[in-house]
Amino acid sequence: MENRTLIGGQWGDEGKGKVIDALGEGFDWVIRYQGGANAGHTIQIGASEHVVHLIPSGVFREGVRNYLGGGMVIDPWALRDEILELEATGHTVRDRLYISSTAALLMPYHKRFDELYEEQRKRRSIGTTGRGIGPAYQDKLRRTGLRVGDLALPLEKLERIAIEHILEANELLSSLFDAEPLPAKVLAEELVTLAQTLRPMIADGFTVLRGVREGTQSALFEGAQGTLLDIDHGTYPYVTSSNCTVGGALTGTGLPPRCLGDIVGVFKAYCTRVGNGPFPTELLAEEGEHLRELGGEYGATTGRPRRCGWFDLVAARYAVGINGLNGVVITKLDVLDTLPAIQVAEAYDLDGERLVDFPVRLDASQRARPVYKDLPGWEKPTGKARKLSDLPAGARKYLEYLERSLGVLIVGISVGKTRDQMILTPTGVTT
Ligand code: GDP
Ligand code: IMO
Ligand code: MG
Repeated sequence: MENRTLIGGQWGDEGKGKVIDALGEGFDWVIRYQGGANAGHTIQIGASEHVVHLIPSGVFREGVRNYLGGGMVIDPWALRDEILELEATGHTVRDRLYISSTAALLMPYHKRFDELYEEQRKRRSIGTTGRGIGPAYQDKLRRTGLRVGDLALPLEKLERIAIEHILEANELLSSLFDAEPLPAKVLAEELVTLAQTLRPMIADGFTVLRGVREGTQSALFEGAQGTLLDIDHGTYPYVTSSNCTVGGALTGTGLPPRCLGDIVGVFKAYCTRVGNGPFPTELLAEEGEHLRELGGEYGATTGRPRRCGWFDLVAARYAVGINGLNGVVITKLDVLDTLPAIQVAEAYDLDGERLVDFPVRLDASQRARPVYKDLPGWEKPTGKARKLSDLPAGARKYLEYLERSLGVLIVGISVGKTRDQMILTPTGVTT
């Protein structure tokens, strides 16, 4: 089986979980490599909906091994809860979950700092998920943070080190924010209990991923968040704290570039964003609300209403270029089924000048106005289509237009939430 790397092409929530699950059958490994429980990947199996935050979406496919890479920040409390929740719904998890010992450990004080930093920013808040992501990466980069491997220390030592870290965090909470201290002893004891639960799953990536490195085992890499939320290439500072673009799959696993296989971007047939920051094609008021209702656009992690707007070719071409995408999957095509007319941004207008490249400077991306192309809708249902020729002509035209404008083959189309609502188009959609 050919390896594949799936990357969010927009601002997250493109339907990566659904696509990973739909394509996941037969892979030896599904590998997460960056981010943490800020991700919310939804997988609909029959009538039941599951949202995974830390555990890879491969967990719903029998026999697939799931790996949490060293580039992640892992909240052991959240991970334990997620394992228990999946087990309660009849899924086996522990015997095929591997957690890199080099992943950063996300502690309760990181969540507290996340909240306090956001409050401090007031009007300029990022609108984080509140999962402690930024502060955990901050400790990693300062080289002061705990790691998953520390959970394998002798328990007394682990407890002692955990108390030291929590007390240090308490000093900062008090001096920076005049905030209440966290109960160090209680949390350290909880961590010791969690360590005993998680220890059997802690792995050395260089050893367990040997088969992937040597090409005898196949892997599907599961990106979290999306290209425009990347710490370096996104709409900084309105981004997350990890590399959601292709480089993250390398540094976040320690695997060499040849292992990544095809680099496939996942894009919605329109656009959404949750949290603050620039969004040139955003639709406001009733228009935006209409799309939100059609698409059920509420955050899988925080339940927040997502901002909605038209497909943005300027931003999408940027994602194609930055990641070197050689395939694209378009999701949620069915959401547009009832619309009489559709718009797509082909360029931006910035102070009277036409821009075709995404402006990375914040002030420019905030001021850029979309230049739209109008396309007719198809006003027919697409949810039952299983091959390209089942789609209404108007929907095929829309996809052909996107494929041509992106210059990359559309290799898959998702037309609903369930696994089978997927059209595979390995040779593209242009006939
Ligand atoms: P992710 O973070 O990229 O995995 O995406 P989310 O799970 O946060 O959000 C995607 C939402 O769209 C979820 O509720 C999915 O069940 C749903 N979804 C995914 N693909 C499709 C599709 O093709 N059609 C429709 N109607 N819903 C979809
Ligand atoms: P998936 O993997 C959509 C957004 C937050 C906020 C910014 C920073 O489900 O696509 P953070 O908590 O990471 O410090 O928040 O990034 N964000 C996401 N938006 N989907 C996600 O993940 C996201 N993860 C973070 O809303 O704007
Ligand atoms: Mg999501």
